[in-house]
Amino acid sequence: MTKINDCERSEADCKIENCSKKIRKMAKIIDGKKIAEEIRKEMKEEVNQWIEKGNRRPQLTAVLVGSDPASCVYVRNKMRAAADVGIDSITKNLPSDITEKQLLEFIEELNNDNNVDGILVQLPLPEHINERTICNAVSCDKDVDGFNEKNVGRLCLDMNALIPCTPLGVQELLKRSNIETFGKKAVVVGRSKNVGMPISMLLHVDGRNDTDGMDATVTICHRFTPPEDLKMYCKQADIIITATGVPNLIKSDMIKPGACIIDVGITRITCPVTGKTKLVGDVDFENCKEIAGWITPVPGGVGPMTVAMLMHNTILAAKKLKEKRNNMNI
Ligand code: GUN
Repeated sequence: MTKINDCERSEADCKIENCSKKIRKMAKIIDGKKIAEEIRKEMKEEVNQWIEKGNRRPQLTAVLVGSDPASCVYVRNKMRAAADVGIDSITKNLPSDITEKQLLEFIEELNNDNNVDGILVQLPLPEHINERTICNAVSCDKDVDGFNEKNVGRLCLDMNALIPCTPLGVQELLKRSNIETFGKKAVVVGRSKNVGMPISMLLHVDGRNDTDGMDATVTICHRFTPPEDLKMYCKQADIIITATGVPNLIKSDMIKPGACIIDVGITRITCPVTGKTKLVGDVDFENCKEIAGWITPVPGGVGPMTVAMLMHNTILAAKKLKEKRNNMNI
């Protein structure tokens, strides 16, 4: 089979429209699991140094209301990761029929507890509880999810804040993979308040304020973006970040050769033949990896980074709270 210059594909296999037979290689797979492991190793060291200076371990409390199986797995994984880096972690299991008032009182106790540095209320909550009210009740200083509206507002104003873990994980993946964002065209597919919106914010900021500037030109697409427009925007993008939960939304004919594709989507599907379930992202990975320059897999891409960034936020919260408590002589 003939190869195209130093392209890794045969001509017959080349899927790039109008390929000029220049230099095309298979996409680099961004291994989120490996990068997250490196970060966790660094954080373990950071926690050890913190303890050596005479501080107590950072403490993370997860609040799990009810027993949604997916939520239980997520919380268990987060708590395992916390223990692994030396963060003390506690899961508070509360009954699904707890009232909003009782949950607010419980959160207030955690807010006032000087042994707690980070509070995470696992979402979704039962329908009778207003998630916004609960997220806003978590002290901004302990809000390791970055979901309190004040932290969201601070992020939008490029001010120091605890930043939601998935957007922070995406930013860290881009940084550690040396993906240039300055002046690049980025498309974010999905505008959820906890993922798409904050990712867009991080990508466009100019770095003259508190947050790390990424200086990209950002287009946000969503469920009402017509498919032909979605394709047009994606095809121009140097970076595509998709977080919709729609499997196979991003196909190989929608991406620019060499683009960086970050897949935040995660959907469990059942194989109609075997009946087995598996996790898939928003991107047609097998075909897109033939054209992209970089691509994240699902699972093993953004997911592990979200957990690592939760640890990062907990350590950050612990350090800032220590300073605050010292200033207040607590
Ligand atoms: N449910 C799904 N993702 C998240 C998350 O990042 N934080 C919390 N608290 N709940 C979630």
